[in-house]
Amino acid sequence: MTGHVLRRSDGSIWQLKSEKWGVEESSKVMSGMIEIRKEEPADQDAVRIINEIAFEQGPEAAIVDKLRKSCKEYCSFVAVNQDTVMGHILFTPVTIDGSNLIGMGLAPVAVLPLYQKQGIGSSLVRHGLQHLQRSGCPFVIVLGHPEYYPRFGFEQASHYKLKCQWKGVPDEAFMVVIFDRDVLPREGGITRYRAEFDEAM
Ligand SMILES: CC(C)(COP(=O)(O)OP(=O)(O)OC[C@H]1O[C@@H](n2cnc3c(N)ncnc32)[C@H](O)[C@@H]1OP(=O)(O)O)[C@@H](O)C(=O)NCCC(=O)NCCS
Repeated sequence: MTGHVLRRSDGSIWQLKSEKWGVEESSKVMSGMIEIRKEEPADQDAVRIINEIAFEQGPEAAIVDKLRKSCKEYCSFVAVNQDTVMGHILFTPVTIDGSNLIGMGLAPVAVLPLYQKQGIGSSLVRHGLQHLQRSGCPFVIVLGHPEYYPRFGFEQASHYKLKCQWKGVPDEAFMVVIFDRDVLPREGGITRYRAEFDEAM
């Protein structure tokens, strides 16, 4: 992924480096008693358990473990209350066929059932998107609940001719939030998550 170049509408050039979308040490926010901060090595077991429980033993926990090792741009945040890790969100790079533009894919996001419906998932999504927008990421895709993600600015990806790599995905479930409209390929294309998502399915 290193070396991709993005030409901005103002003519400036921005180059994707692995550290560009890494999570800064200072990247944290307090929301009531909940702190959203970068994932640390000591959080790894908690992150695995959160994904195992929230996704009822689905493949997500294993995908996250794999990406942590293989993906330089792994961008992961946790929601913490004192010493309890309550939620987790991950962003990894995505491509568009026929274009050298790189965006990010949100997947997965999970909150322990005991703490759901208290705004933690929303804080994680908002914090992650804000971080990516500030660091120059042009767009973020998500495959998820169409009732949940539009509140964060996600729209149907098909409006921008962006297609999901997997067949049979309902149109309204595949969404995108665009931070830099000018760099998106007008002809759209098939977007692709990291291969680790395919391999685990
Ligand atoms: C989705 C999830 C991360 C949301 O976390 P959360 O902390 O409960 O979210 P918030 O409290 O910020 O927001 C709650 C809202 O999310 C909605 N929501 C939660 N799960 C939903 C679902 N499966 N479909 C649609 N909406 C959902 C709730 O109805 C609620 O809506 P409201 O604000 O209009 O009442 C959490 O429910 C979870 O971990 N689910 C299991 C894993 C999962 O499905 N992850 C998302 C994959 S796309």
